[in-house]
Amino acid sequence: MVMKMAGARAKKLLLISVVGLGIIVFLLVFSLRSYALDENDCLSCHGNQQLTKTTEDGRKISLYVSEEAVNTAAHRFIDCTTCHTAEPHKVETPLTKLSLAEKCGSCHQYQYKLHLESVHGQQLVQGNTDVATCVDCHSSERSPHSVIRVLEYSSPAYKKNIAQTCGNCHGDVRLMASYGIVEKVYESYMRSFHGKAIQLGTYEITQLDKATCANCHGTHDIKRASDPASPVAGVENLARTCEQCHPGGGVEFASGFLGHKEASPRNIPVAHYTEILFTTLLTAVLSFGAIVVVAAIVRFSINRWRE
Ligand code: HEC
Ligand code: HEC
Ligand code: HEC
Ligand code: HEC
Ligand code: HEC
Ligand code: HEC
Ligand code: HEC
Repeated sequence: MVMKMAGARAKKLLLISVVGLGIIVFLLVFSLRSYALDENDCLSCHGNQQLTKTTEDGRKISLYVSEEAVNTAAHRFIDCTTCHTAEPHKVETPLTKLSLAEKCGSCHQYQYKLHLESVHGQQLVQGNTDVATCVDCHSSERSPHSVIRVLEYSSPAYKKNIAQTCGNCHGDVRLMASYGIVEKVYESYMRSFHGKAIQLGTYEITQLDKATCANCHGTHDIKRASDPASPVAGVENLARTCEQCHPGGGVEFASGFLGHKEASPRNIPVAHYTEILFTTLLTAVLSFGAIVVVAAIVRFSINRWRE
């Protein structure tokens, strides 16, 4: 009798745990999936990859919106019509890099205002399409529908990825030469201690950790290096910029900085010769080490063979 009751209780317990587990798995699966808001079923047409439009000046523009991208975007809880107000098909949008920034700016007014005054934004206003608009730094696909949060590791604006993002344009030597920008800024940054430290470092990066392009130049408010308002213009501004992370460095610390210029016998000779000296020393030490190791292996093999 007692045995029978215990058996029934065990069965009940088992049933409860199976059902409980089922509920937990169900909840997990569904909470991991997220869906973008699409209250008017816009994706029934715009989810079609073949949907295009031809503008008045003959450009063919894709009107495809990837549902997958929208589902993981920072704006997934904002319905299509919140950005595309009222009747999106009645307004002819020019769909340019500037019109895109204007639309983003209708909500992100602060970033938009700064961006318009930056070296990139000022060119956008003049119709230049070579310069950066919002999605060049906020979406890997450069699409307004796949903007992701800045603190996601895969964001082009995440600290560890910034140099690569700027490098998409600033690493293009021919494009930059056409603007008279001759310094190889991307390569020289990657060679610098900051560039190396950020490559080697983990993904967990704090704001004051290691300088990227944006720590020295800004983000939405980037100015020409020759503009007195630029944080890198003149040794005093530069010193203030370094001091964010190297407190008490002062002008002396900053004036030793090469910027993106390569050291050469004519330009900052001390740095040039020090670099040569260090490279030579390093090569010598490494070669010596290698010879010692090889000699030891040969010696070991000979001894083994003799035994
Ligand atoms: C029945 C299919 C269909 C549906 C539903 C639909 N669209 Fe469209 N959409 C189109 C087509 C076709 C075009 C291209 C029209 C043209 O050639 O000018 C277009 C163009 C657009 C454009 C570009 C406008 C321009 O001319 O610059 C936007 C933005 C847009 N749609 C947003 C939306 C939004 C938001 C919704 C939901 C509220 C939506 N669409 C629903 C078919 C559709
Ligand atoms: C956070 C704001 C935002 C949301 C939400 C949004 N869009 Fe857009 N969309 C934009 C911006 C910005 C542009 C670029 C407009 C321009 O250049 O004038 C754009 C452009 C478009 C275009 C023109 C082609 C292109 O890709 O540039 C279509 C079509 C479109 N959106 C459809 C949709 C649909 C459908 C949804 C909902 C699934 C949606 N949008 C949700 C901001 C948004
Ligand atoms: C040249 C690259 C670049 C461009 C262009 C750019 N951003 Fe950003 N944005 C960044 C970076 C990098 C951050 C990360 C935070 C920081 O360092 O300020 C950021 C941060 C943000 C944030 C998060 C809040 C904040 O300010 O930190 C928003 C929102 C934003 N950007 C919107 C925009 C909009 C809207 C535009 C276009 C008008 C734009 N961005 C253009 C690089 C850019
Ligand atoms: C309708 C208003 C609206 C428009 C238009 C809009 N955004 Fe946003 N954006 C938001 C809101 C609200 C959030 C915060 C979303 C959240 O926290 O869930 C956000 C978040 C962001 C973030 C993440 C900020 C962070 O802290 O990481 C970035 C980056 C961003 N938007 C850039 C853009 C860009 C680029 C465009 C143009 C393609 C744009 N936004 C258009 C309202 C808007
Ligand atoms: C530690 C600070 C620092 C970092 C990090 C940095 N820069 Fe600079 N940048 C400077 C200084 C100082 C100058 C002006 C002197 C010079 O041209 O070397 C400059 C100049 C420039 C110029 C103008 C060059 C010319 O020939 O007119 C561009 C473009 C530029 N930087 C882009 C970048 C990009 C892109 C990155 C990241 C890959 C970056 N910078 C990282 C400090 C920095
Ligand atoms: C989509 C391409 C693109 C991206 C992305 C981009 N830039 Fe630029 N940038 C340009 C172009 C083109 C110019 C030249 C504009 C001119 O001289 O009128 C420029 C100009 C500059 C200048 C002024 C150079 C001078 O003459 O002193 C600086 C500084 C700069 N960019 C820094 C950055 C930084 C930092 C980033 C990343 C956070 C970045 N840019 C991302 C295209 C881009
Ligand atoms: C955003 C913060 C930040 C900014 C801004 C910054 N640095 Fe650094 N810097 C660092 C960090 C962190 C290290 C240590 C890197 C490592 O070894 O991990 C470093 C290392 C260095 C080193 C190598 C030797 C040392 O002291 O460890 C020099 C030299 C240096 N920075 C110069 C500069 C100069 C010059 C500027 C201004 C043009 C500057 N830094 C701006 C964060 C910054």
